[in-house]
This record gives sequence, C-alpha cells and structure tokens, in this order.
Amino acid sequence: LVYSAVLCVAAAERCFPDGFKFGTATASYQIEGGWNASDKGESIWDRFVHSRPEAIGDRSNGDVACDSYHKWRDDIQLLEDLNVDFYRFSISWPRVLPTGFPNRVSEDGARYYGDLIDGLLGNGIEPVVTLYHWDLPQPLQDLGGWTNPLISEWFADYARVIYDLYGDRVNTWVTFNEPTAICDIGYNDALAPGLESEGRGSYLCTKHVLLAHAKAYRLYEKEFKPKYQGQVSLTNHMMWFEPETEADTELTELVKAISIDRYCYPIFSATGGWPPALERYIAQKSAEEGEPRSRLPPFTQEEIQLIRGSYDYLGLNHYTTRTVRRAAAGEEIGTYLFEGVKELGVTLGARPEWPTTMSTWFTVYPPGFRALLSYVKQQYGDVGIFIMENGLSDSGTDLDDQPRVDYYRDYLEQVLLAMEEDGVQVVGYTAWSLMDNFEWMDGYQSRFGLHHVDFTSPSRTRTARRSAKYYAAVARTKDIDAKYEFDKMAEL
Ligand SMILES: *[C@@H]1O[C@H](CO)[C@@H](O)[C@H](O)[C@H]1NC(C)=O
Repeated sequence: LVYSAVLCVAAAERCFPDGFKFGTATASYQIEGGWNASDKGESIWDRFVHSRPEAIGDRSNGDVACDSYHKWRDDIQLLEDLNVDFYRFSISWPRVLPTGFPNRVSEDGARYYGDLIDGLLGNGIEPVVTLYHWDLPQPLQDLGGWTNPLISEWFADYARVIYDLYGDRVNTWVTFNEPTAICDIGYNDALAPGLESEGRGSYLCTKHVLLAHAKAYRLYEKEFKPKYQGQVSLTNHMMWFEPETEADTELTELVKAISIDRYCYPIFSATGGWPPALERYIAQKSAEEGEPRSRLPPFTQEEIQLIRGSYDYLGLNHYTTRTVRRAAAGEEIGTYLFEGVKELGVTLGARPEWPTTMSTWFTVYPPGFRALLSYVKQQYGDVGIFIMENGLSDSGTDLDDQPRVDYYRDYLEQVLLAMEEDGVQVVGYTAWSLMDNFEWMDGYQSRFGLHHVDFTSPSRTRTARRSAKYYAAVARTKDIDAKYEFDKMAEL
C-alpha cells in the first residue's frame, strides 16, 4: 500500500483515486465446464451447442471450457497474482436449481459457489456476483423462457435462494449481464436459445428481463439490504455510436435510444418507462405494418414504478464504437446482431483507421469510451458507474499481447478523462477477462484472456500474458502508466 501511494504521487495525472476498485470477470458457462457434473440441470447453452454445433464458429462447446468447476483454486491464485480488489463471476442457475425452480437446491451446486466465495474472501478478494449470464435452465425455456410473463417471478424466486445462500458474504450483485444479448441476439438466432423472433419475441424478452431485474432488486431492498447493506443493479452492453456523416445524426440518436437507453431509461430516468422517442417510433412503425398494437409491449403504471429507481449503481460493459448510416434499399444488413439494425434499417460500420480485432463487431476506438460515459452522465445524472467489462479479443496465440496492453492503457485513459474533465463518477473497472474462455458463437477462436488457456491440455494450463502483468501493476498502483514500471522490471 505504501509502495502504491509512492507510484501514484509520482505520476498524479495518470492515477485513479484511492477507493477506485479494479477487478476482472468471467461467466459460468464460459469457464466452468462440468456441464453435467453431479445433479446440475441442463441449460439453454448446453442444449444449443449440443443440438446445433454448426452455430459455433469452431463447432466447440463449453462442456469442459476452462474446467473451473474443478480448477477454481487455480483461478483464485491467478486473481491473487493480479492484485485485483474483486472478482466478478456468474452463478449457473441450473447448477444450483436443477429444475429451474426452488423445489430442489443442489447441495453440490450450492457448495461450489460457497467454496469459491470463501476462497476469494480468504484471499482478500471481494466477490461480485452476476445472477444471470445467459445460462437459463432448459425447463424454463420449454415454458417460453423470457417471453413468458411469469418468468420475472421465477427469476425472483431464484434470486431469493442465492441471496439466502450467499447474501451474508456478497455485497455487490449484478442481476443481468447484457440484456441486449439475451433478448436481441438470443432471438436473432445467434445465441441460445437460437430463436428467430426479432421485434416481437425480443421485445417480450426485453420487458420481462426488466421486470425480473426489478423484482429481484425490490426483494433484496426489502428483505436483505437492511441486514447486509449490499448493492444491486444490472449491467448493460453499451457500444458508442457515431454518425457516418452529418446526415446520419438523427438516426444515430435513435440507435442510441434502442441500444443504450432501452435498458437504462426505464430504470435510471426520473420518469421511467420506455424511452419516449423509441416508443413513438415502434408504435408508428407497427401501425404502418398493420399490427393491432405496438410490438413493443407497454408497461402498466405499477410496472413503471416498480422498475424506476431499481438500482444502487449503473453497470456497463463497453468494447467498441460503431458508425451509423441508413441502409440502402435491398442492402444486406446485420453487421452486428442487435435490434436496431432491422428495426431502424441502419447499417453499422467502422472508420477505416480503427484497428480491427478477432471479433467481427469490434474495432478499437478509445475516445468512444469517454463519449459514452459522458452521454450516460448527461442522460441519467450523477449515478455511480461501475464498468463491468472492457477488454480486447485477439487470436490468442501470443503471450506477448502488446495490443491488449495498449487497449487497456488507452481505454483506461479515457475513463480517467471522463472522470477528471467531464465529472463522470466512475467507481470501478473490470477487465474482461481473467482468462481465455468459450466465446459464445466464436467458440475458442477469439480470446479475451489476461491469461492464455491451453484448451488442448487436460489440465487447461493457464499462463499469464504480458497484459496480465500490466494489469497487475495497474491494480496495485492505480497508475495506468505503471506498464512502464513493469517494462522496466520485465523479468517479473
Ligand atoms: C457427461 O457428459 C460427457 C460428455 O461431455 C459424457 O461423456 C459423460 O458420460 C456425461 N456424464 C454423465 C454422468 O452423464
């Protein structure tokens, strides 16, 4: 601690304030494996990869992944080496509730997460727990999944089990990771459950995810917060969007409304409900299409009040910036699979000078991060922003991943600028990811890890990349240019 203070004073303008927290993240299906261990139930991801292997770029799956179901002690060692304040991981709903319902709690499933939490706390690492990172119990999908209005009750029932089990030891909860992926991409045939119901199923899902979040929030607020004083919110995936030319400015505002504000306005705005411009747009378009009512289902007044204010912080995941223009008639669209592309008839792109990555949807443009953070502040005021994911994908072959080091340094610099120049209140930062893992439809072809994982080895050997050493220095010193310190001590 003394050492960190010394480094920070030496380069004050590059330092995050005391109390700012650094961590790293993973998700259950992407790392755990043990897909059928003990009495774990089947998830929609198990079903998706087993029934449709061709939906995954390399026809791989998460049956074993990083084998963290068995190797969680190794993961804790990696976290210790990273000097992080916290570890964000997710709980597999069907591992704890094999039927999806609380009629039966798996002893082994409950013990697994209990051991992990105790192991983290024993090493001074705070657990940050996501309740839903996409692995819905298949029996609930068979009942309609996120399109069934009852699912918000089922989710709150599940949340109660988890708060009961771990609420005494976990203080930061994330109800949902990236509802846009759950609802837009899950109902655009690319992520589980792999249904095609854009603009209909996707909007039912959107509404029920928001209600499920709010019910889990209110439950904690009423029954657990008085005892434990923890904080609950959700985390939204937010790209930043720039008009391709000035003529695309108005369209870009609508893209922000559908992509960023659809999940923020109902929770974080003073009035609640859907973003008004978006609600009007979809109602009008639905009418033109001969629909008897808007495809975007309305909220009742009670629902608006339930959802509005259901947060203790604002979680966001950010990776990239996209340019926006109107798609030409008959143009193939869908450069990234999210609702706005079809609903608004836009095409998303990137400026030629932005470096590409291993992910089709992802180019590198650090200033977009500051612009996004300032936009969020302007829209929703001085809520504490917790960055829950940020990181770079590559092919994963190189342990010397200087582009990833540069990405972290340059994106963190934009966070600092947003805090110092624009007065944005950011409370924590999470690097995605602790290690290479199952990257959804890309399988193991694109890698986000601070640690390389050898997926050909039965022991799934983890090896620190240069970026792990850089990030360990940042987490220890809170100084983003500590990488130069590291470079000087390269033999570390
Ligand atoms: C678990 O799945 C593996 C394939 O990933 C299979 O070989 C094994 O037999 C299954 N175990 C049980 C208990 O079903």
